[in-house]
Amino acid sequence: MENYQTVSLLVEGPVATVKLNRPDALNALNSVLVRELVAALDALEADQSVRCVVLTGSDKAFCAGADIKEMAKLSAADIESADHLKPVWDRAASFEKPLIAALSGYTFGGGLELAMCCDIIVASEGTKLGQPEINIGIIPGGGGTQRLPRAVGKYKAMEMILTGGAISAEEAKALGLVNRVVPPGKYLEEATKLALEIASKAPVAVRAAKEAIAASQEMGLSSGLELGRTLFYDLFNTEDKKEGMSAFLEKRKPNFVGR
Ligand code: CAA
Repeated sequence: MENYQTVSLLVEGPVATVKLNRPDALNALNSVLVRELVAALDALEADQSVRCVVLTGSDKAFCAGADIKEMAKLSAADIESADHLKPVWDRAASFEKPLIAALSGYTFGGGLELAMCCDIIVASEGTKLGQPEINIGIIPGGGGTQRLPRAVGKYKAMEMILTGGAISAEEAKALGLVNRVVPPGKYLEEATKLALEIASKAPVAVRAAKEAIAASQEMGLSSGLELGRTLFYDLFNTEDKKEGMSAFLEKRKPNFVGR
């Protein structure tokens, strides 16, 4: 795989780990990191051996947001036409395989928006989550005004975005924004364990489940139910459905092939 400067990649069996790696800037999203993270996710989506991806940062920061040094010089026309940030959230949100965010430390602004593009969020105790954009005269630009209220409800999202204040991992878990909170130093291990568990399931069914649940955030109930039903019916033509049900009836472990 390509050599990246701002992300590092580790593929171990069916699980790939992508680590944001700009420690001097607390993993702030600059144009190089955006380009490299998009390229890494493209490569992992194409790699048939990879079934689940963990996205992480450092103990100190998952990501402190968009790079303020880069943004400081941009006008409205510049940011719209340069479009150097949008691809990263779009790429993560449209990733077909399960994406697990493993958070520790500062998870702010565009970094929290990136975590919210993932499917499951594991956080270390001490993780701080927030949308502090209001403090620098802007608003969340990577979907935070839409994904945060869907995750925590309108009132908490208003409070977080209008005050710019951060919440703890425990509070985020109570609000439904984080799945699991684990002791410091265990976040990557816990996320990898979850990824391995998901990677052991039937891949076509995993993809269909992800597609249906992701659609529930965009669609009305009747069209969502219809999509869920279509995906459910389609799975009845897969080898993995035959294998899964036969294995159950024969009281053995299934051997899924991804077809
Ligand atoms: N962009 C660029 N550089 C950043 C950065 C960011 N978002 N966040 C931190 N850094 C840099 C700092 O400038 C500093 O670099 P130097 O040593 O060269 O000065 C280095 O990372 C370490 O940061 P601090 O010295 O500030 O570390 P700290 O531990 O004292 O504070 C912090 C940590 C509270 C996270 C603080 O760095 C901070 O408030 N960062 C900005 C957070 C923020 O406002 N994020 C939102 C950005 S806007 C956005 O994301 C828009 C969007 O929705 C798309």
